[in-house]
Amino acid sequence: MASSKTPETLDFVVVSNRLPIDAKPAKNGAEKWVTSPGGLVAALQPVMKGRTAAWVGWPGRVDIDLEPFSLASTHYFPVALSAVELEEHYEGFSNSTLWPLYHDVIVQPEFHRTWWETYKKVNQRFADRAAEVAAEGAFVWVQDYQLQLVPQMLRKKRPDLQIGYFHHIPFPAYELFAQLPWRADILHGLLGADVVGFQRKTDASNMREAVRRNFGYSMQKPMVRVPLRATPPRNRKAPPVTASKTREVMVEAFPISLDVQSSAKLASSDAVVKRAKEIRKELGSPKTMFLGVDRLDYTKGIRHRLKAFGEMLQEGTLKAEDAVFVQLASPSREGVEQYRELRDDIEQLVGRINGDFGHLNRPAIVYLHQNISREEMMAMYVACDVMVVTPLRDGMNLVAKEFVSARTDHRGALVLSEFAGAADELDEALIVNPHDIDGLKEALADAAAMSAAEQKSRMEHMRKVVVENDIKRWATSFIDAVKPPERKRRR
Ligand code: F6P
Repeated sequence: MASSKTPETLDFVVVSNRLPIDAKPAKNGAEKWVTSPGGLVAALQPVMKGRTAAWVGWPGRVDIDLEPFSLASTHYFPVALSAVELEEHYEGFSNSTLWPLYHDVIVQPEFHRTWWETYKKVNQRFADRAAEVAAEGAFVWVQDYQLQLVPQMLRKKRPDLQIGYFHHIPFPAYELFAQLPWRADILHGLLGADVVGFQRKTDASNMREAVRRNFGYSMQKPMVRVPLRATPPRNRKAPPVTASKTREVMVEAFPISLDVQSSAKLASSDAVVKRAKEIRKELGSPKTMFLGVDRLDYTKGIRHRLKAFGEMLQEGTLKAEDAVFVQLASPSREGVEQYRELRDDIEQLVGRINGDFGHLNRPAIVYLHQNISREEMMAMYVACDVMVVTPLRDGMNLVAKEFVSARTDHRGALVLSEFAGAADELDEALIVNPHDIDGLKEALADAAAMSAAEQKSRMEHMRKVVVENDIKRWATSFIDAVKPPERKRRR
């Protein structure tokens, strides 16, 4: 691994729970670095490209204390977590309390005071590390729900900083959020930022509503007036705040995107186009190839879509000789009980459908529980006829945008859940309610039968949207909101 001396402080600092590369043990006892999964990394890596910046995060393994290191112009500052902290901060409070609560309680959130204590402790460690590496007046960009207390902790230590926070997952309606025993502390933590960004307008208005109902702060959408000496009141309705000294916090939607040009370039490369043809051949040249690409997560609606597909085979709307469903499910959060149960459920369902409808030379569903390379994923996007993205709730879902970016041939149909943030922009997809299995079956059938002309017209429209709103635009609009161009010029 290339490494150069890490500068002491930097004026652009990203803070995320996980570094974009995970340290895996290598044979020689050293670390092997592999790209970590998920949308956050896909979105932020291009933002960092060519920028001299710091990235503060957990390196993906417990109980190792790694020295800072540099790769190209990014300087990485690993934050160590113990096995107990992983269990209570990451698997516990982040992924068994906040994750289900923020995703509409698809599974029951658990509230444990010990987890909350560890969440605070770990957030403080991230804040301390960021405070150490940020130069005077630096821009610090905190990412996601695992670190919601960091903005306020940072502001307390380093009032000179410009602090942005971006929330990659949904922010729930107040009736759900209000269940959280520490809701006031979380809101107070977020309001330490200058700008709190969300995927959808509804997420931003849910947060403003939560602030209004807990703290009674005055606001003029999207700005919230936060008293300079704000402390989190206890969890009961506070009287309206009349403090004369306030600071303004913007709470607004900034829908995330990806590096559309680079996806399009890779997807149209000779190697990927060749591999896409091979994939179809390997699958027995089906008339229709359906594709699902997800982390194996209960929010993604994998079970719903496979159930719909199985029923279509059962009813004869689709024939296993003609159609194949390729489902890639990358391993995720396997230390959490609900994720292990989900894996069992999905694998049982796949086994049942393949048992009933598969053939000697081809199963009805090709299911891969593994991480595949970016090239192979692109080839899958290019090879398929129907991309099926049916989360029950999802902040954005960059798979949908990546599929559209990859289809430079203007072919293929997208079936997309209305509960994914991407549905706000990709309205030429076939929009579905994934809970409505009959509706889902109709959409899958319509997508499989869609004429080339209709595919082209829908795809052209969707491509225009993603090309215009790519990751550069997202990053620039967010950064400009934190440090408006006039302020940048004056500095
Ligand atoms: O979408 C939320 C998120 O936490 C992203 O930040 C991340 O890319 C993905 O889920 C996977 O997260 P984890 O670190 O839990 O594997």
